[in-house]
Amino acid sequence: MEHQTFRYKTLDELMEDMERLNIDLPVSKNLDVLGKSIDIGEHTVANRLTIHPMEGADGTSSGKPDELTFRRYERFARGGAGLLWLEASAVVNEGRANPRQLYICQENRDEFKKLLDNIRSAGEEEFGRRPYTVVQLTHSGRYSRPKDKPAPIIAAKNPYLDKFLADGYRIISDDELKRLEDKFVEGAVLAKELGFDAIDVKSCHRYIISELLSAFTRDGEYGGSFENRTRFLLNIVDKVRDRLGDGIEISLRLNVYDAIAYPYGFGVSEDSLEVPDLKEPIELVKMLSDRGVRLINLTTGNPYYNPHVNRPYDIGPYLPREHPLRGVARMLGIIRDIQSAVPEMAVISTGFSWLRHLAPYIAAGGIEDNWFKLAGFGRQAFAYPDFARDILEKGEMEPRKCCISCSKCTEIMRDGGRTGCVIKDAKVYMPIYREGRAGKPPADSKEIADHL
Ligand SMILES: Cc1cc2nc3c(=O)[nH]c(=O)nc-3n(C[C@H](O)[C@H](O)[C@H](O)COP(=O)(O)O)c2cc1C
Repeated sequence: MEHQTFRYKTLDELMEDMERLNIDLPVSKNLDVLGKSIDIGEHTVANRLTIHPMEGADGTSSGKPDELTFRRYERFARGGAGLLWLEASAVVNEGRANPRQLYICQENRDEFKKLLDNIRSAGEEEFGRRPYTVVQLTHSGRYSRPKDKPAPIIAAKNPYLDKFLADGYRIISDDELKRLEDKFVEGAVLAKELGFDAIDVKSCHRYIISELLSAFTRDGEYGGSFENRTRFLLNIVDKVRDRLGDGIEISLRLNVYDAIAYPYGFGVSEDSLEVPDLKEPIELVKMLSDRGVRLINLTTGNPYYNPHVNRPYDIGPYLPREHPLRGVARMLGIIRDIQSAVPEMAVISTGFSWLRHLAPYIAAGGIEDNWFKLAGFGRQAFAYPDFARDILEKGEMEPRKCCISCSKCTEIMRDGGRTGCVIKDAKVYMPIYREGRAGKPPADSKEIADHL
């Protein structure tokens, strides 16, 4: 068992451990590349630092951005990242992952507009520019919980995940999927009218599109063959293009390795769930590129089932057998393979928060060595919303401001609270965390996971 908590003070210490563990990661001590702009179609992203989509579960019951949503995005916009990827926003009410998930629809239009306007004016005020904005369109599928209890809608049965499935689930029919494609298109049309630079057709983390990509065992038009499993996603891309032309950039957050055994996981070798097989993910990214998709945000794993594959951590629901640095290296290695197979794509990478203040050196190394073109930060942005400003203006991140990958931002959400950093933004989020935890057993475990 290699698991250990973070311990590197310096880049040299990290590099020594890379050598000890025989781990290959790109490193650059010169961070200049992170401040270089990049063009996505007609727009320019001011630097290579991205804030990943991170659900706040802090909207109103009807899915409008609320007080804490505005606060989070204002802090992000003032933090200096060139690209701000807004969180999962449902395209239908029944596909919301929690009763406060954002819902992008005509009734909520004014508040979404206000959110975008606030982000832009905060960016203008701080830096004289707007961050590039992407909004993530979603249907939560098996993780749908629009009211106070789960109401799963699945694409295919799955012996690994169904163990955790609530009673009363249903399998979505082909006809419903056809209608749902049009709901994604409506979300995209609204996103364009609001002025977002891009939409994300969310295809990750086992929400509905991610599940369809791995629906090897599903019958009908949307299951079985690669053509059928990718149909829903590609139909949406085609329909949005037909409707909006080049009016909005079409992008996606894509799971390229599920770490769930074949035939139940996408991007997984038939022989072992521990071995990625990127043939299909690469083919899909090429097909998307042929359809004019220029920006893609890559991720792996499932935050409910194998969260350490999704976000390497120090404290979490179980202790993984592997060292978190191996998790970071696996994710970035997969991303490198996809970027090199589709070099024209602007690939955003994931996997930096666990690296804390040493992340910028890996991010810069990765861009210099063509592993990816932009570096995305998730949990780190909750803890340290101005990480990008420090990297770009001071040339470093402050260790004391960094995310400690304690998983409390996930716990708070699972407990039904609003999401943020319980440790570094304690005034706001510690009381919410305590309230949600009251009477519950500790969520972190000393158990070693039996998968991966
Ligand atoms: C509380 C929380 C909410 C998240 N919400 C989303 C989301 O809405 N959409 C998404 O694609 N990923 C979401 N993620 C995943 C992150 O974007 C990111 O992939 C993950 O945290 C790993 O990156 P990191 O190591 O920088 O944190 C969420 C993660 C957390 C912890």
